[in-house]
Amino acid sequence: MRFHDDVAIVTGAGRGIGAAIARQLFLEGCRIVVLDIDESSALACAQSIDPAGHRSLALSCDVSSKDTVARAFLRIAEKFDTVDILVNNAGITQDAMFHKMTLEQWQRVIDVNLTGTFLMTSAVVPLMREKKHGRIINISSTSAYGNVGQANYAATKAGMIGLTKTLAKELGRHNITVNVIEPGVIETGMLKTVPQSIKDGWLSMMPIARMGQPEDIANAVCFFASNESSFITGVELPVCGGFLIV
Ligand SMILES: NC(=O)c1ccc[n+]([C@@H]2O[C@H](COP(=O)([O-])OP(=O)(O)OC[C@H]3O[C@@H](n4cnc5c(N)ncnc54)[C@H](O)[C@@H]3O)[C@@H](O)[C@H]2O)c1
Repeated sequence: MRFHDDVAIVTGAGRGIGAAIARQLFLEGCRIVVLDIDESSALACAQSIDPAGHRSLALSCDVSSKDTVARAFLRIAEKFDTVDILVNNAGITQDAMFHKMTLEQWQRVIDVNLTGTFLMTSAVVPLMREKKHGRIINISSTSAYGNVGQANYAATKAGMIGLTKTLAKELGRHNITVNVIEPGVIETGMLKTVPQSIKDGWLSMMPIARMGQPEDIANAVCFFASNESSFITGVELPVCGGFLIV
């Protein structure tokens, strides 16, 4: 076991990449908070990884809402004595070419992907500073480097990289590491609306020409969450089959 009862919060963990991260951290010895805006999927995920429910907590929470985040942390404090690991994974897309993008599309994606990361991180940092230990892992995207139709999403994912590096500089002296993973094309519900022709175009640009799986991201998260990476902070790790090689 890589972890010994560490408490890990994974946002957007009801399905997709977040569910795989929650499962793997749990199997490696963590106690897990499965947090998602969709209560039924959070419950189903927690139930599937920990049927007895002693070492997991399913929570319905919109990460973009200060009030629901505050309520979630009250519930976490009732169940668990500490927080060791935060994975800011919850994220959405609302794609449009920039000349057609509405303020609502811009704002909602900023609210969930970037402000949600801010609110969740703000809640754990005081606990981690007091404990003098913590691991924060942000899930960005290769789209941070620009992608047609994703001005809002790319801005949030690039913002997460800047936030990660700043937090790494501020929090290192408290023994808190902060790192960011950039998934490439990962086979989840998020890609369901993307036409196959576009996915084929992406695959043709990847040296490892297969769709990534949620477990590929979970493996990288477990490394950053574990003591194996205790001297690594402020790092960007693309997990994308070589998509970002220039
Ligand atoms: N799938 C990919 O190819 C890919 C590529 C790069 C980056 N990513 C990033 O990985 C993360 C997970 O993506 P995924 O593919 O698993 O997506 P997904 O859509 O399958 O799952 C996202 C989960 O987040 C939850 N969620 C949405 N809004 C929320 C909110 N306001 N508060 C709490 N939970 C919320 C959803 O209910 C869902 O369970 C996202 O941040 C995404 O941007 C995904």
